[in-house]
Amino acid sequence: MFVSSPVESLSPHIGSVDSKAHHPAVLKQGRSLRLLRHPANVSQGEDRMELSEAIKGRRSIRKYKTQPIPSETVQLLIEAATYAPSAGNIQPWHFIVAEDPAVKKKLAEAAYNQAQVEQAPAVIVVCADEQQISPRYGSRGKNLYCLQDTAAATQNILLIAYSLGLGTCWIGAFNEEQAKQAVNAPEGVRPVAMIPVGYPDVVPRQRMRKPLNDIMRYDTF
Ligand SMILES: Cc1cc2nc3c(=O)[nH]c(=O)nc-3n(C[C@H](O)[C@H](O)[C@H](O)COP(=O)(O)O)c2cc1C
Repeated sequence: MFVSSPVESLSPHIGSVDSKAHHPAVLKQGRSLRLLRHPANVSQGEDRMELSEAIKGRRSIRKYKTQPIPSETVQLLIEAATYAPSAGNIQPWHFIVAEDPAVKKKLAEAAYNQAQVEQAPAVIVVCADEQQISPRYGSRGKNLYCLQDTAAATQNILLIAYSLGLGTCWIGAFNEEQAKQAVNAPEGVRPVAMIPVGYPDVVPRQRMRKPLNDIMRYDTF
Protein backbone atom coordinates (compact mmCIF):
# COMPACT_ATOMS: atom_id res chain seq x y z
CA MET A 1 0.00 0.00 0.00
CA PHE A 2 1.55 3.28 -1.06
CA VAL A 3 0.99 6.82 0.07
CA SER A 4 -0.92 8.49 -2.72
CA SER A 5 -0.54 12.11 -1.68
CA PRO A 6 0.53 14.45 -4.44
CA VAL A 7 3.93 16.00 -3.92
CA GLU A 8 2.50 19.44 -3.22
CA SER A 9 0.48 18.28 -0.27
CA LEU A 10 3.28 16.56 1.53
CA SER A 11 5.05 18.03 4.48
CA PRO A 12 8.57 19.08 3.54
CA HIS A 13 9.98 17.84 6.77
CA ILE A 14 11.48 14.54 7.77
CA GLY A 15 11.77 13.04 11.21
CA SER A 16 13.97 10.17 12.27
CA VAL A 17 12.28 6.92 13.07
CA ASP A 18 14.66 5.26 15.47
CA SER A 19 16.14 8.10 17.40
CA LYS A 20 15.91 11.82 17.00
CA ALA A 21 19.42 12.02 18.39
CA HIS A 22 20.80 10.51 15.19
CA HIS A 23 19.18 13.03 12.89
CA PRO A 24 21.78 15.29 11.26
CA ALA A 25 19.69 18.29 12.17
CA VAL A 26 19.84 17.34 15.82
CA LEU A 27 23.51 16.41 15.72
CA LYS A 28 24.46 19.72 14.18
CA GLN A 29 21.97 21.81 16.10
CA GLY A 30 21.78 25.48 15.11
CA ARG A 31 21.73 26.09 11.41
CA SER A 32 20.63 22.69 10.16
CA LEU A 33 17.87 22.41 12.69
CA ARG A 34 16.53 25.84 11.84
CA LEU A 35 16.64 25.08 8.14
CA LEU A 36 14.67 21.91 8.53
CA ARG A 37 11.83 23.95 9.97
CA HIS A 38 10.74 24.96 6.50
CA PRO A 39 8.04 27.66 6.32
CA ALA A 40 5.86 25.50 4.06
CA ASN A 41 5.92 22.94 6.80
CA VAL A 42 4.74 25.33 9.45
CA SER A 43 1.89 26.60 7.30
CA GLN A 44 0.59 23.05 6.93
CA GLY A 45 0.70 22.55 10.66
CA GLU A 46 2.89 19.52 10.17
CA ASP A 47 5.95 18.99 12.25
CA ARG A 48 7.75 16.18 10.48
CA MET A 49 7.41 13.60 7.80
CA GLU A 50 7.56 9.98 8.82
CA LEU A 51 10.32 8.03 7.15
CA SER A 52 7.81 5.54 5.74
CA GLU A 53 5.90 8.39 4.14
CA ALA A 54 9.07 9.68 2.50
CA ILE A 55 9.98 6.21 1.26
CA LYS A 56 6.54 5.52 -0.16
CA GLY A 57 5.66 9.03 -1.31
CA ARG A 58 8.85 9.86 -3.22
CA ARG A 59 8.50 9.74 -6.99
CA SER A 60 10.86 10.59 -9.79
CA ILE A 61 10.20 14.19 -10.82
CA ARG A 62 11.26 15.27 -14.27
CA LYS A 63 9.89 18.81 -14.46
CA TYR A 64 10.90 21.61 -12.11
CA LYS A 65 10.02 25.19 -11.35
CA THR A 66 12.71 27.74 -12.15
CA GLN A 67 12.83 28.77 -8.48
CA PRO A 68 16.43 28.42 -7.30
CA ILE A 69 17.33 26.18 -4.37
CA PRO A 70 18.93 27.97 -1.41
CA SER A 71 22.53 26.87 -0.96
CA GLU A 72 21.80 25.93 2.67
CA THR A 73 19.16 23.49 1.39
CA VAL A 74 21.61 21.99 -1.11
CA GLN A 75 24.04 21.51 1.76
CA LEU A 76 21.38 19.67 3.74
CA LEU A 77 21.04 17.23 0.83
CA ILE A 78 24.76 16.56 0.72
CA GLU A 79 24.95 16.32 4.48
CA ALA A 80 22.22 13.65 4.40
CA ALA A 81 24.19 11.78 1.75
CA THR A 82 27.20 11.60 4.03
CA TYR A 83 25.18 9.72 6.65
CA ALA A 84 24.75 6.75 4.33
CA PRO A 85 26.41 3.50 5.36
CA SER A 86 29.81 2.98 3.81
CA ALA A 87 32.01 -0.13 3.70
CA GLY A 88 34.74 0.33 6.29
CA ASN A 89 33.41 3.89 6.67
CA ILE A 90 35.76 4.92 3.89
CA GLN A 91 33.10 7.19 2.36
CA PRO A 92 34.56 6.97 -1.14
CA TRP A 93 32.33 9.62 -2.62
CA HIS A 94 32.27 13.13 -4.01
CA PHE A 95 29.23 15.29 -4.75
CA ILE A 96 29.51 17.89 -7.47
CA VAL A 97 26.67 20.40 -7.42
CA ALA A 98 26.25 21.74 -10.94
CA GLU A 99 24.40 25.04 -11.12
CA ASP A 100 26.26 26.67 -14.02
CA PRO A 101 24.03 26.40 -17.13
CA ALA A 102 27.07 25.51 -19.25
CA VAL A 103 27.96 22.57 -17.00
CA LYS A 104 24.33 21.42 -16.80
CA LYS A 105 24.14 21.52 -20.59
CA LYS A 106 27.18 19.27 -20.88
CA LEU A 107 25.70 16.91 -18.31
CA ALA A 108 22.39 16.80 -20.21
CA GLU A 109 24.27 16.00 -23.41
CA ALA A 110 26.12 13.23 -21.59
CA ALA A 111 22.72 11.95 -20.43
CA TYR A 112 21.50 11.54 -24.01
CA ASN A 113 19.73 14.92 -23.87
CA GLN A 114 17.42 14.10 -20.99
CA ALA A 115 15.74 17.48 -20.63
CA GLN A 116 15.34 17.40 -16.86
CA VAL A 117 19.12 17.49 -16.38
CA GLU A 118 19.46 20.83 -18.12
CA GLN A 119 16.18 22.21 -16.77
CA ALA A 120 16.79 21.59 -13.07
CA PRO A 121 18.16 24.49 -11.03
CA ALA A 122 20.82 22.14 -9.66
CA VAL A 123 22.23 18.77 -10.64
CA ILE A 124 24.15 16.73 -8.11
CA VAL A 125 26.69 14.45 -9.73
CA VAL A 126 27.44 11.59 -7.35
CA CYS A 127 30.93 10.22 -7.90
CA ALA A 128 32.57 7.04 -6.63
CA ASP A 129 36.26 7.29 -5.79
CA GLU A 130 37.84 3.96 -6.68
CA GLN A 131 41.24 5.03 -5.50
CA GLN A 132 40.04 5.61 -1.97
CA ILE A 133 38.48 2.19 -1.65
CA SER A 134 40.84 -0.08 -3.61
CA PRO A 135 43.77 -0.06 -1.17
CA ARG A 136 41.63 -1.63 1.57
CA TYR A 137 39.14 -3.72 -0.38
CA GLY A 138 40.74 -4.39 -3.76
CA SER A 139 38.50 -5.32 -6.67
CA ARG A 140 35.46 -5.97 -4.47
CA GLY A 141 35.80 -2.47 -3.11
CA LYS A 142 36.24 -1.00 -6.57
CA ASN A 143 33.54 -3.00 -8.34
CA LEU A 144 30.96 -3.33 -5.60
CA TYR A 145 31.39 -1.41 -2.34
CA CYS A 146 31.99 2.01 -3.80
CA LEU A 147 28.92 1.59 -6.03
CA GLN A 148 26.83 0.42 -3.10
CA ASP A 149 28.06 3.25 -0.89
CA THR A 150 27.25 5.87 -3.49
CA ALA A 151 23.88 4.27 -4.24
CA ALA A 152 22.97 4.50 -0.55
CA ALA A 153 24.13 8.13 -0.50
CA THR A 154 22.04 8.82 -3.59
CA GLN A 155 18.94 7.37 -1.98
CA ASN A 156 19.51 9.54 1.11
CA ILE A 157 19.56 12.59 -1.15
CA LEU A 158 16.32 11.58 -2.87
CA LEU A 159 14.55 11.04 0.44
CA ILE A 160 15.72 14.16 2.25
CA ALA A 161 15.00 16.22 -0.88
CA TYR A 162 11.46 14.88 -0.97
CA SER A 163 11.02 15.62 2.71
CA LEU A 164 12.04 19.23 2.01
CA GLY A 165 9.48 19.60 -0.79
CA LEU A 166 12.01 19.12 -3.60
CA GLY A 167 11.72 16.84 -6.60
CA THR A 168 14.55 14.67 -7.86
CA CYS A 169 15.22 12.00 -10.42
CA TRP A 170 17.98 9.39 -10.26
CA ILE A 171 19.71 9.55 -13.65
CA GLY A 172 21.82 6.54 -14.52
CA ALA A 173 21.63 6.61 -18.31
CA PHE A 174 24.59 8.70 -19.38
CA ASN A 175 27.88 8.45 -21.16
CA GLU A 176 30.35 8.20 -18.31
CA GLU A 177 33.31 9.66 -20.18
CA GLN A 178 31.30 12.72 -21.20
CA ALA A 179 30.02 13.14 -17.66
CA LYS A 180 33.58 12.93 -16.33
CA GLN A 181 34.65 15.65 -18.70
CA ALA A 182 31.67 17.83 -17.81
CA VAL A 183 32.68 17.95 -14.14
CA ASN A 184 36.42 17.57 -14.72
CA ALA A 185 36.59 14.39 -12.63
CA PRO A 186 40.11 13.20 -11.85
CA GLU A 187 41.44 9.73 -12.72
CA GLY A 188 39.78 6.96 -10.70
CA VAL A 189 36.70 9.03 -9.89
CA ARG A 190 33.55 7.70 -11.60
CA PRO A 191 30.33 9.69 -11.97
CA VAL A 192 27.75 7.06 -11.03
CA ALA A 193 24.54 9.07 -10.80
CA MET A 194 23.18 12.47 -11.68
CA ILE A 195 20.42 13.91 -9.54
CA PRO A 196 18.57 16.88 -11.00
CA VAL A 197 16.92 18.73 -8.13
CA GLY A 198 14.19 21.36 -8.18
CA TYR A 199 10.82 22.34 -6.85
CA PRO A 200 8.33 20.01 -8.59
CA ASP A 201 6.29 21.44 -11.44
CA VAL A 202 4.29 18.27 -11.95
CA VAL A 203 2.22 15.85 -9.90
CA PRO A 204 3.77 12.45 -10.54
CA ARG A 205 1.67 9.42 -11.25
CA GLN A 206 1.64 6.35 -9.07
CA ARG A 207 4.15 3.67 -10.06
CA MET A 208 3.50 -0.04 -9.86
CA ARG A 209 5.49 -2.05 -7.34
CA LYS A 210 5.89 -5.81 -7.49
CA PRO A 211 3.86 -7.57 -4.82
CA LEU A 212 5.83 -9.11 -1.95
CA ASN A 213 4.59 -12.53 -3.01
CA ASP A 214 6.64 -12.25 -6.18
CA ILE A 215 9.90 -11.12 -4.62
CA MET A 216 10.06 -12.38 -1.06
CA ARG A 217 10.90 -15.85 0.20
CA TYR A 218 11.93 -17.14 3.57
CA ASP A 219 15.22 -18.98 3.94
CA THR A 220 15.80 -20.10 0.35
CA PHE A 221 14.57 -19.40 -3.18
C1 LIG B 1 20.03 3.13 -11.32
C2 LIG B 1 18.88 3.98 -11.82
C3 LIG B 1 19.00 4.63 -13.02
C4 LIG B 1 17.96 5.45 -13.49
N1 LIG B 1 18.13 6.17 -14.63
C5 LIG B 1 17.16 7.01 -15.03
C6 LIG B 1 17.39 7.84 -16.16
O1 LIG B 1 18.45 7.86 -16.78
N2 LIG B 1 16.38 8.67 -16.53
C7 LIG B 1 15.19 8.75 -15.86
O2 LIG B 1 14.34 9.53 -16.25
N3 LIG B 1 14.96 7.97 -14.77
C8 LIG B 1 15.92 7.13 -14.34
N4 LIG B 1 15.74 6.38 -13.21
C9 LIG B 1 14.48 6.53 -12.45
C10 LIG B 1 13.57 5.33 -12.65
O3 LIG B 1 13.02 5.37 -13.95
C11 LIG B 1 12.46 5.38 -11.58
O4 LIG B 1 13.05 5.34 -10.30
C12 LIG B 1 11.47 4.22 -11.71
O5 LIG B 1 10.76 4.32 -12.91
C13 LIG B 1 10.48 4.17 -10.56
O6 LIG B 1 9.76 5.38 -10.47
P1 LIG B 1 9.81 6.29 -9.16
O7 LIG B 1 11.24 6.75 -8.94
O8 LIG B 1 8.88 7.44 -9.44
O9 LIG B 1 9.34 5.46 -8.00
C14 LIG B 1 16.76 5.57 -12.74
C15 LIG B 1 16.66 4.91 -11.51
C16 LIG B 1 17.71 4.15 -11.04
C17 LIG B 1 17.60 3.50 -9.68
